[in-house]
Amino acid sequence: MTIRRRTILTGGALAGGGVAVGALGALAASGAPKPGAGAGAAPDTGSAVVAFHGARQAGIATEPPAHASFVAFTLPGGTDRRALGRMMRLLTDDARRLTQGVPALGDTDAQLAVLPARLTVTFGFGPGLYSAAKVASPVKDLPGFTIDRLEKRWSGGDLLIQICADDALTVAHAQRMLIKDARPFGAVRWVQTGFRRSPGVQQAGFTQRNLLGQLDGTANPAGGALDTAVWAPDGSTTLVVRRIRTEIEKWDLLSVTDKENAVGRRMDSGAPFTGVNERDEPDFAALDAGGLPVMPDYAHVTRAHVTDPALKILRRPYNYDGAPNAAGHPDSGLIFASYQASIERQYLPLQQRLAERDLLNEWITPIGSAVFAVPAGCAEDGWIGAEVLG
Ligand code: HEM
Repeated sequence: MTIRRRTILTGGALAGGGVAVGALGALAASGAPKPGAGAGAAPDTGSAVVAFHGARQAGIATEPPAHASFVAFTLPGGTDRRALGRMMRLLTDDARRLTQGVPALGDTDAQLAVLPARLTVTFGFGPGLYSAAKVASPVKDLPGFTIDRLEKRWSGGDLLIQICADDALTVAHAQRMLIKDARPFGAVRWVQTGFRRSPGVQQAGFTQRNLLGQLDGTANPAGGALDTAVWAPDGSTTLVVRRIRTEIEKWDLLSVTDKENAVGRRMDSGAPFTGVNERDEPDFAALDAGGLPVMPDYAHVTRAHVTDPALKILRRPYNYDGAPNAAGHPDSGLIFASYQASIERQYLPLQQRLAERDLLNEWITPIGSAVFAVPAGCAEDGWIGAEVLG
């Protein structure tokens, strides 16, 4: 069944729930399955919707869904502010529809749009977009770090679209639609796809494990602390995306104790060496019988810990797992994505400390790096980036 552009236009003059019902009604009439109708599936995983409009963009403070695609674009020379404004109006329209389970305008496979599965679409602007618009950039590329082995194919970018949902098909469809509308304005520079635990696999609120087997996300700021750390008063934030390869073959040679020493937390419970439960605060002043710190000073958590809530970062990483090479060695790691109000004040000093001394560096290698300013969210009649490009 095809939903013609005209049908969408008539039904879709108002973005939001009403349109979703109209589009779903049309699909139901065609015999297409209703959202969540799959046998044995949690009934609301597919139909779950995250609001698109608001003072802040979605896809940041929202609980990360199972699948993500980070798509970066390069703008051709000569792109100006007006063209960028046109692009962002178009992309905002796609995002506001798709995230609500409504096909994009001209969607060539409209049925694929009706199960949003908590789809969020988040836009980031790289330093190059600001130069094209002739506006001062709030972000600049990170300096090189001694641990970096950066590859061009995973680095930089003028525009970023972060697409997340609990379903890989939904992500792929949204990506296809957004790229179609973005490509008259810029070329795809890189795409990184990643995953976390799927919904229903473990209880909500439990910390996910990464491919190194570690509980990853324990000490993330939450509640009011998250607000302070992530958002500027105008609803904007910044994003650092680092592709970090994990040297799994070397990691596999370690004993559990060695793995725990690299981080300063237990592999099974995620508890710090000075505690028994995952959420126990590490005590960095505690000494063992020999007078040495119980939390080793070279451990990842010791090096990364920040006490001032305003200086914390929000980590929202996804695992990646590419095809193993001919010898069967994995190509895996983390798409390390972190949000913070200021890269300069929050991310940089932290990354510097980790680059200087962090035992975990033995088993991780940054191979990609990109920074983006994330503009504020928008109202129903607005578009993302209007305050920069309007
Ligand atoms: C592949 C790369 C990485 C791995 C596998 C990794 C793993 C972990 C693990 C297992 C923890 C302890 C549990 C938790 O609080 O989530 C942790 C904590 C943390 N990591 Fe990483 N990490 C990586 C890269 C980074 C990078 C690049 C940064 C920042 C530049 C970073 C910053 C932090 C911070 C701020 C904490 C919390 C420290 C605290 O206050 O307790 N990590 N990481």
